[in-house]
Amino acid sequence: MAARGGFSSRLGFIAAAAGSAVGLGNIWGFPFEVGEGGGAAFVVVYLFFCFVLCFPVMATEIAIGRKTEKNPAGAFVALGYKNWAWVGKLGILAGVLILSFYNVIAGWAFGYIFEMAMGHFGGGEQFGAFTVQIVKVGAYGALFMATTAFVVSRGVSGGIEKAAKLLMPTLIVMMLGMVIYSLTLDNAMDGIRFYLVPDFSKINAGVIYSAMGQAFFSLSLGMGALITYGSYVNKKENIVSAAALITLADVGIAFIAGMMIFPLIGFMSGGTMEGAAGGPGLIFVTLPQIFGTLGSIGPLVGTIFFVLLCFAALTSTVSLLEVPVAYAVDELNIRRKRAVWIVAGIIFVVGIPSLLGFGYSDFFSTAFTTYKDGGTDTDFLSFVASIANDSILPLGGCMIAFFAAHIWKKHNLDEELASGSPKYKGSFVQKYMNFAVGYLAPVVLSILFVLTVLFKFFGISII
Ligand code: PHE
Repeated sequence: MAARGGFSSRLGFIAAAAGSAVGLGNIWGFPFEVGEGGGAAFVVVYLFFCFVLCFPVMATEIAIGRKTEKNPAGAFVALGYKNWAWVGKLGILAGVLILSFYNVIAGWAFGYIFEMAMGHFGGGEQFGAFTVQIVKVGAYGALFMATTAFVVSRGVSGGIEKAAKLLMPTLIVMMLGMVIYSLTLDNAMDGIRFYLVPDFSKINAGVIYSAMGQAFFSLSLGMGALITYGSYVNKKENIVSAAALITLADVGIAFIAGMMIFPLIGFMSGGTMEGAAGGPGLIFVTLPQIFGTLGSIGPLVGTIFFVLLCFAALTSTVSLLEVPVAYAVDELNIRRKRAVWIVAGIIFVVGIPSLLGFGYSDFFSTAFTTYKDGGTDTDFLSFVASIANDSILPLGGCMIAFFAAHIWKKHNLDEELASGSPKYKGSFVQKYMNFAVGYLAPVVLSILFVLTVLFKFFGISII
């Protein structure tokens, strides 16, 4: 299906898929979730989800995509199971919801490039003052969405693949530099203790649900982003090893982000770790403060950091937009360019309440809903994230795994995974994949999905 485009090389696919996975979820989302989830205990649960449950689901998604060369909804139909297309459609809906709020955060990061360049390092108050300048943040968001749309309209193997290969390593090096710096600060070790020494009494139901949602979100799983990317992958690709690499890269970068942020919070709080549960504003508050301590090079370091963060975000927004666009192109027969701009426009509009929910409109800010996410009032963005990340993605992952093992059947999945991986059949990995995709993921995820919905939206806690 040459007309759909494809990745130019093995590295191209891995770079693009890792680019999809690595994004704001790692650098913005992971630290704030760890902070809210009580530190290292969250990290342990998170790692469990990533490696034990998500990795097999990831390989499965890529395999379904490659087998069918279709968008998430079309993929189920192409395999002959029309009445499973809803799973793909639900995923597409999740993609739309996620991109709607993701773009708001990306817009902030984009705006911070200029704030940093101008040397604005106020921290807390500055962030609050920034998000209420609605025309300004709206314009940054619109520009970011337009950039995403522009890239997607050029197809998959063009600029984004090349940019990802260059910019990802640069981002990692820069973050490592910041880790080293933050470790030298006073009270850095209090931050490290919070981040890495688990206090298992902090693991409660809420922590488990949020860690699960964060794992799916960060790995771009459960909504068919990787079915879509898989549809552009060559038959000679070794899917299992690609999935392992993508998972490792994603978890590794989230880990580094934590190593960068928590020592800083230790330093700024004088060791009390107060402020760690700063929510979605966390990195926009702590990082500028730290750039402020760097003296004359602060503005430069800050600017470069947010430029790189924007690139990490862009490789993710591109994959998010690609999903509904692939659907519109394959199933609704809309021309690619046109589909891109229409879909991007709609998603931008869907994101407006999230944009307003950081102080500009009381209704969409903390007063939006008092559903019992741990008993606190919630802003619109967090509400949408609870629906998409914490509920739809794990449900999607559960359904995709169940479908692959029991409807499409294990031997077909095995066949696809073995293509490009001669040693797969009969290996331990195959046995684990069969167990995880066939039983572990469907059982664990379906139970957790029900518990999450009861807890997050109805305040009912069973465990
Ligand atoms: N994984 C991306 C991130 O961590 C977000 C994303 C979610 C991208 C779902 C695609 C699909 O930033």
